[in-house]
Amino acid sequence: MTTTHDSGTYRPPAPGRPDIRQRTLRTDRWWLPPLVNALGLATFVVYATIRSLWGSAYYVEQYHYLSPFYSPCVSASCIPEASHLGQWFGEMPWFLPYALVSLPFLLGFRLTCYYYRKSYYRAFWSSPPACAVAEPHSKYTGETRFPLILQNAHRYFFYVAFVISILNTYDMVLAFQSTDPATGQTSFGLGLGTLILLINVVGLWLYTLSCHSCRHVTGGRLKHFSKHPVRYRVWTTISKLNTRHMLFAWLTIGTLILTDFYVMLVASGTISDLRIVN
Ligand code: FES
Repeated sequence: MTTTHDSGTYRPPAPGRPDIRQRTLRTDRWWLPPLVNALGLATFVVYATIRSLWGSAYYVEQYHYLSPFYSPCVSASCIPEASHLGQWFGEMPWFLPYALVSLPFLLGFRLTCYYYRKSYYRAFWSSPPACAVAEPHSKYTGETRFPLILQNAHRYFFYVAFVISILNTYDMVLAFQSTDPATGQTSFGLGLGTLILLINVVGLWLYTLSCHSCRHVTGGRLKHFSKHPVRYRVWTTISKLNTRHMLFAWLTIGTLILTDFYVMLVASGTISDLRIVN
């Protein structure tokens, strides 16, 4: 017997599988999570793209706040004080982000992340849209061919993302300073911006360390945990974080936007930083 799904596509059932004609038998709102994911991811991509190319309001000189979308700022287009690692290139053309040395790797890290893959495969490709809901595509090749085989590069992006998290931490430590515009003297300072940068960095570390590749790096391929007690302990901790990887993935989308947006408001003079110390 032949069957036609309600999507109009004929699918003969695999041997031994039931011949179900509906696309799904689910009656709950299975379409809601992919819809929310699509809106969330699209919002982040649009915001991050616009802000990365904005080219202004990314650094607060007085309080040393640098937006994470501009770190490290190493071109001659950057404000010199924001170039914590020096300036390696000449002027950036408008269509390239100032943080050209980090953003492509961070983008690669997130794009190939195991959680985000699930999220955008479902949200944008309906592959599949949800558990127990048939996908519209007739062929499934998984990640065994180009271009999706490139998803395997995730482990390498992890190493770069780890280094960039150290840079973000350095930026955050510098934000515990305040420079007096009259005298030019720098001393300890703490403002709402410092705390926002701190929360963002904690989130970035939680996301990076809870990565599946990190879990593999710390405890993968060990035959005897008893012979590697330190690695076992680290692996156990990473494994606990790993169960919350999805939470950290969304949390950091929020903290990245919040941090950049706050720095933009203060840097552009729209609001003043709420100072706690100095
Ligand atoms: Fe998500 Fe590695 S699995 S960052």
